[in-house]
Amino acid sequence: MEIIIQSTPQAATEIAARLMAKLIGKKPGAVIGLATGSTPELLYRSLINLHLDWSRVTTFNLDEYIGIPREHPQSYHSFMQQQLFRHVNIRPESVHIPDGMAADIPAACQSYESQISAAGGIDLQLLGIGTDGHIGFNELTSSLASRTRIKTLTPQTRRDNARFFGNEDQVPQHVITMGIGTILEARHCLLLAFGAKKARAIAGAVEGPVTAMNPASALQLHPHVTLCLDEAAAAELRMTEYYRWVYDQKPDWQKA
Ligand code: F6R
Repeated sequence: MEIIIQSTPQAATEIAARLMAKLIGKKPGAVIGLATGSTPELLYRSLINLHLDWSRVTTFNLDEYIGIPREHPQSYHSFMQQQLFRHVNIRPESVHIPDGMAADIPAACQSYESQISAAGGIDLQLLGIGTDGHIGFNELTSSLASRTRIKTLTPQTRRDNARFFGNEDQVPQHVITMGIGTILEARHCLLLAFGAKKARAIAGAVEGPVTAMNPASALQLHPHVTLCLDEAAAAELRMTEYYRWVYDQKPDWQKA
C-alpha cells in the first residue's frame, strides 16, 4: 500500500485528482469506479475544475440505496449528477450505478458484475471508508470474496448517514453494493479518508490484521493501493514517519 499523508483534506484531494487526471490523460477510455458520501465531494470539484475529457470514460459506482427512486435527492444517482456528471462531458450511457428500484435485485446485481466485465474491468476504483472500516457498503463481517449484492446497513452506518436524510429512520435499511471481491479486481484502488473519525478504521485497514471486522483491511491483499489521507485520519497509524519518508523519496515524475 502506498500511504500519502497531507496536512489537509484539500492537499490530499489534489494528489488524488492529479492521479485520476493522469489516468484519463493516458487512457481516454478508462473505466473508473466512483464513490459517494462526503469524502469525494472535494475531489469531484477538483476534477470539474481540471476540465478533463470524459467523453470516452466509463464509470461504475460502488453502491446505491434500495427502495428510493433515482430522482430522490439522497439517491446516489442524484448525488453523482449533482456532484460530477452534470458538470462534465460524460455520455449518460457510460454511467453505471446499481439500480435500487430493480424488480429483481439479485438479477440486477449479477448484470452489474457482467457489465463491469464487459467494459474490461475497472482501471481505478475510488473508495471512501466508513468509521467502522466498511468500503462500498460492505459492512463488518462481509465476505472478503463477496460480489455485487444486497447488504443490510448496520445501525452505525445508518447513524453516520442520518445527516443526509434528516434522521436515522429515513435512511434505507438495504443497499446494493459491489462486493469486496469485486473491488479487489480493480487494477488500482484509491482510498481517501479525512478527519479524526476515520483514524481508527484507517489504522486497522493498514496496520491491523486482514479481517472481515475491518473490510478495508482486505485491501492489504491488493497489489496496487494508494491511500490519500489528511493528518487527522492518519493519526492512529504507527508507521507514519516511514510512510512520509517513502513518499518524499519518490521522484517527482512518479508522484501523482
Ligand atoms: C459510498 C461508499 C461508502 C462511503 C463511506 C464513507 O459510495 O461507498 O463506503 O465511502 O461510508 O462515507 P463518507 O465519505 O460520507 O464519510
